[in-house]
Amino acid sequence: MPDYNNIVRAMFFISLFGYARVLENGLVRTPPMGWMSWGYYMCGTDCEQNPDKCLDEKLILSVADTFYNEGYQEAGFEYIIIDDCWSEHHRDKDGRLVPDRLRFPNGMKYIADYIHSRNLKFGMYTNVADVTCMRYPGSKGHFKVDADTFAQWGVDYLKVDGCFVGEQYLNNAYIHFGGYLNKTNRPMVYSCSWPYYIEFIHNRKPDYPTISKHCNLWRNYHDVVTSWSAVKNIIQHYEDEYSGLEKYHGPGHWNDPDMLIFGTDSLTEAQSKIHISVYAMLSAPLLLSCDMTRVKGYEKNLLLNLDLMAIAQDPLGIMARPYRIDYITLWVKPRMPRKGDIYPSYSFALVNVSGQKRTITVRPSNYGLNCTDGYSVMDIFSKRFLKNITFEDSIDVTVPSEDVILYTLFPL
Ligand SMILES: *[C@@H]1O[C@H](CO)[C@@H](O)[C@H](O)[C@H]1NC(C)=O
Ligand SMILES: *[C@@H]1O[C@H](CO)[C@@H](O)[C@H](O)[C@H]1NC(C)=O
Ligand SMILES: *[C@@H]1O[C@H](CO)[C@@H](O)[C@H](O)[C@H]1NC(C)=O
Ligand SMILES: *[C@@H]1O[C@H](CO)[C@@H](O)[C@H](O)[C@H]1NC(C)=O
Repeated sequence: MPDYNNIVRAMFFISLFGYARVLENGLVRTPPMGWMSWGYYMCGTDCEQNPDKCLDEKLILSVADTFYNEGYQEAGFEYIIIDDCWSEHHRDKDGRLVPDRLRFPNGMKYIADYIHSRNLKFGMYTNVADVTCMRYPGSKGHFKVDADTFAQWGVDYLKVDGCFVGEQYLNNAYIHFGGYLNKTNRPMVYSCSWPYYIEFIHNRKPDYPTISKHCNLWRNYHDVVTSWSAVKNIIQHYEDEYSGLEKYHGPGHWNDPDMLIFGTDSLTEAQSKIHISVYAMLSAPLLLSCDMTRVKGYEKNLLLNLDLMAIAQDPLGIMARPYRIDYITLWVKPRMPRKGDIYPSYSFALVNVSGQKRTITVRPSNYGLNCTDGYSVMDIFSKRFLKNITFEDSIDVTVPSEDVILYTLFPL
C-alpha cells in the first residue's frame, strides 16, 4: 500500500481525535509567514536619537507596502506583527491599552485597515503579567478588555509573552487568555511563549498536550539574536528535541523557533541558505525581522523561491526528521502528493554546519521512498531537474563545508 494511504489514514485519525487534542480555530493551517518587529527594531522608541531603529506607524506601513509591491505577498508573506513597546505607559480611564501617541498617532485600527486593504494580516503583542518584558502595561487582570480591544482594532494574530510570572500562573493564564480571545469571535492566531518560560526560566517540562490544545504556535527555545551561532544553536535544539516536539506539530499548531535574521547583515549566503532551508524543512513559521530595504539580493532570491516556500508551506506540515550521517545532518520531509500522484513527494536537506566538504551517499529507499516508477530529483536552489532515479538507486551528494544541498524528489 502506498505511503499516501497511510498519510490519508493518519489525517483521518488526526481529524477524528484532533478535535479534542489541539486548538481548532481554523487558522494557520500552514505555518505563518510574515514580519515581526522585535528581532531588529526591539524596543525602538527613541526615534529622534535612533531613527534607523524607530518602531512606528511609518515603519509598519512600509513593510506592508514592501510585501505588496515586491513579491513577498505572492511568496506567502502575510502577517505583519508589532512586538513589545507599542503602547503608552498607562491605560486609559476605561482600563484600555493606548498606542503610543507620538509613534502611532492614528491608532492601531488605522494600521489594521491599511494592512487589510493590501490583503495582508495584522499582529500585535502583549504579556500575561502586569507589565510586558520591556515594562509597558501587561494584560494581567485585563484579559477580557485586552482581548476585546485587540479584536476591535482588527488584530489577526497575537503574540503573548510570559515574562515575570511563575509556572502555575503561566499554566493557567495562557488557557484563560485564549478563552477570552475565542469569545471575541474574531479569529486571532494565538502565539504563546508559554513553553519557553516553563522550560528555560522555571526549569520544568512543558505540558505540550495542553499547550497544543490552546495555542496556534508556541516558542520552544531562546530568542534568536542576530548571529550565526544563535541560528546554529536553534537548529541543533530542534535536531536534538525532534522526537519530543514532532508529534505536536501540524496544521493549526506549530513549534516556533523564532524569527529569521535575514536582512541584518549577520549571515553569509551559505549560512542564509542553511537558516531558511532548515526552517522550511521543519515547517517552522517564517517571520522576518529587519529593515526590508536592507534585504540582500541573495536573501530575497531565497525568500521568493517558490519551490523553497512550497516546502515551508507544505499542507501536511510535517516536521522534517533529522538523521546524522558523519558530520552531516540529513533532514527528510514527506510532502503532500502532487495532484494526481499516489505517492508523496519528499524533500531532503543535507546540512553541514562546519568543517570541510564531504560526499555522502543517500539511498532514498532507506527513508521510506518506494515509488516503483522512481523519482525525479529537483535541486531547489538552481530549480533544475537533475536526474531521474529508481527508488533503489543511491545518490552521491557533495556538501560543501557550512552549506546545504536541498532536493525535492517527485514520484515519476
Ligand atoms: C511504501 O512505504 C509505505 C511506508 O512508508 C508502506 O506503507 C507501503 O506499503 C509501501 N508501498 C510499497 C509499494 O512498497
Ligand atoms: C472558538 O472555539 C471553538 C471551539 O474550539 C472554535 O470552533 C471556534 O472557531 C473558535 N472561535 C474563534 C473566533 O477563535
Ligand atoms: C561538517 O562539519 C564537521 C564539523 O566540523 C566537519 O568536521 C565536517 O568535516 C564537515 N562536514 C560536514 C558536512 O559537516
Ligand atoms: C525524467 O522522466 C520524465 C518522465 O519520463 C522525463 O520527462 C524527464 O525528461 C526526465 N528527466 C531527466 C532529467 O532525465
